[in-house]
Amino acid sequence: MTKTVTLIPGDGIGTDVTNSVKEVIQALGTDIEWEVAEAGEEIMEEKGTPLPEDVLESIRRNKVALKGPLTTPVGTGFRSVNVALRKELDLYANVRPNLSLPGLDLRYKDIDLIIFRENTEDLYAGVEHQVGKHAAESIKIITREGTERICRLAFEQSRDLGRKHITVVHKANIMKFTDGLFRDVFYEVAEDYKDDFEEIDDRIVDNMSMQLVMKPELYDVMVCPNLYGDILSDLCAGLTGGLGVAPGANIGDGLALFEPVHGSAPKYAGQNRANPLATLLSAKNMLDYMGHEEDAQRMQNGIEAALKNPETRTKDLGGTAGTKEFTQAIVSNLS
Ligand code: NAI
Repeated sequence: MTKTVTLIPGDGIGTDVTNSVKEVIQALGTDIEWEVAEAGEEIMEEKGTPLPEDVLESIRRNKVALKGPLTTPVGTGFRSVNVALRKELDLYANVRPNLSLPGLDLRYKDIDLIIFRENTEDLYAGVEHQVGKHAAESIKIITREGTERICRLAFEQSRDLGRKHITVVHKANIMKFTDGLFRDVFYEVAEDYKDDFEEIDDRIVDNMSMQLVMKPELYDVMVCPNLYGDILSDLCAGLTGGLGVAPGANIGDGLALFEPVHGSAPKYAGQNRANPLATLLSAKNMLDYMGHEEDAQRMQNGIEAALKNPETRTKDLGGTAGTKEFTQAIVSNLS
């Protein structure tokens, strides 16, 4: 049965990278129909809001969405549409896999890490204000409920993927109440999964950052509060080739929104310069989530074949190809 997926092309290079996905999925012949929903800068001018209600309705109806990057003005203008989407749809888990792909000139050839980042609390809860003229205050919120659901999802998904080592990242030595609660709840949830894993442990975030740079092979799955997850997942993206290759997913109860980690890179918009790989890998993970595992694997094969040859790799990955040539190379290698 044809499944409808919401497609938010997004701003800047969003159309370039999501067109690449549409082309590859059409070549795969996957039974998917796209329902395009416009959000972001341009629609703001037309409709007076960067996140029209019909976008949220479309995602709620279809339950699965693929999104290109969305611009957030700095300092003034509208608030982040990305944050609004996560809040409105209660997409509480940000899942960021990091895998070394063949053909890339990487410091490490064997990275295979997943970060589960809590997506709604911590210092991102938006409880921030000025205190008098010369001070400002931001409140860090960690709840048992918010922590329990991200930990449970991380244990469930990691177990289903056959992962054996899971680590909670925190700074509970200093933030004894907030990070202490996150760490304690992780170990409480772990009781239900202790037979499925060989190692269940914790690391302080500063030590974890150093170890990920020096010995990433020691780790497998990490569960983090929002802020540490944000920082460590970009660190891990750096280990595997940078933002151009980093896929992501935002998961809620029965809802999933897949998106590349990078932004809208406006200077490359419409110029056949953008690397669509992060969006393609997000779409590949979306196909797995939807039960199209065979097509997901064929897409992965096509991507790996295209990456091996510098002539079919994009410039940010040391190649010479544009968005379209890279996409074509994938399409011709869908074995
Ligand atoms: P950015 O990720 O757009 O760009 C950072 C650097 O990486 C630039 O040099 C850019 O040209 C390059 N780059 C990024 N993606 C690329 C790709 N696919 N292919 C080739 N080069 C690529 O980050 P920046 O400049 O900080 O943000 C630009 C806009 O994007 C801002 O408005 C920001 O708020 C927004 N943004 C949106 C995100 C989202 O929708 N999830 C995430 C991050 C930023």
